[in-house]
Amino acid sequence: MSGAAPVVVAHISDLHPTGIARFRPTDLLTKRALGWLNLALLRRKRHPYELLLRVMDDLRRDPPDQLVVGGDLVNLGVPEEFAASRELLGRSGLPAERISAVPGNHDRYTSDAHERRLFEVYFGAFARSAAPFPDDLFPFLQPRPGLTVLGLCSGWPASPIQARGTLGARQLGRLAELLRHPAARPPLVVAVHHPPIPHAEPLKQWLNGLHDWRALLELLAGTGAAILHGHRHLSLHWEVETPRGPLRVLGTPSASDQGGKSPRTAGYHRYRFGPDGFLGGERRIWNAAREAFELHELPVPERVRLEELR
Ligand SMILES: [Fe+2]
Ligand SMILES: [Fe+2]
Repeated sequence: MSGAAPVVVAHISDLHPTGIARFRPTDLLTKRALGWLNLALLRRKRHPYELLLRVMDDLRRDPPDQLVVGGDLVNLGVPEEFAASRELLGRSGLPAERISAVPGNHDRYTSDAHERRLFEVYFGAFARSAAPFPDDLFPFLQPRPGLTVLGLCSGWPASPIQARGTLGARQLGRLAELLRHPAARPPLVVAVHHPPIPHAEPLKQWLNGLHDWRALLELLAGTGAAILHGHRHLSLHWEVETPRGPLRVLGTPSASDQGGKSPRTAGYHRYRFGPDGFLGGERRIWNAAREAFELHELPVPERVRLEELR
């Protein structure tokens, strides 16, 4: 790899496509009724579908080596939404092996979507593993030229007020196995929907956070991995100092959320990796007035020590 061009990874997340699915009354029972109200009243304006088309155009025009999709590909978890997002990713022009996708809380919005394995049905081609487990797509191991992608599932059906994430002891145990796999060659890129950094406010962490974030960071300590997440709809960047070396954590904004609160603006990240790991990256943020993506620097990393995180 020495002297070779850097590997370019594009990182999109939280597509939340609106205006594409018609919901039947039976789709809107229980938790979906609240979600539908939210969708009808708020999300439709905030997440214009056209922005997702612009992101796909940008990926087709300037293709990355690998596209990491960080989850929340739907809103209420009905099949029409999954099909529309699958079609949307196809517009990137990238073949399936150059797309890695993990589910978010919205992809497991209800027990129904979870039990019907809708994420697996529509996006399973982007979660194929070199070391598959017989009963689950996750965690997956994807050796690619110049880096290795590991994918985790943190989204599970939760109560209507919660958007929390969990990996679980079984998945973490399997991740430990994959980290020892000979095909897991560095640099490692770990894709997960929920950020592995806890919210400063305990209530927000309980409602929206990744509950076993510490177990994940302790497991990855010493690997030098870059952990790519979504869920917060913000550009975020941390360097976590662990007793066995640093880990990088990068959160990409929602590809469609133009909620108006800077820096919660729609777009995505791109990163460069060399043989020794992360080399740098950029934000591509949609400028509605100019109808073009603007290039911005990534946020300056916030340096934190693992033992001081609470
Ligand atoms: Fe989201
Ligand atoms: Fe989310």
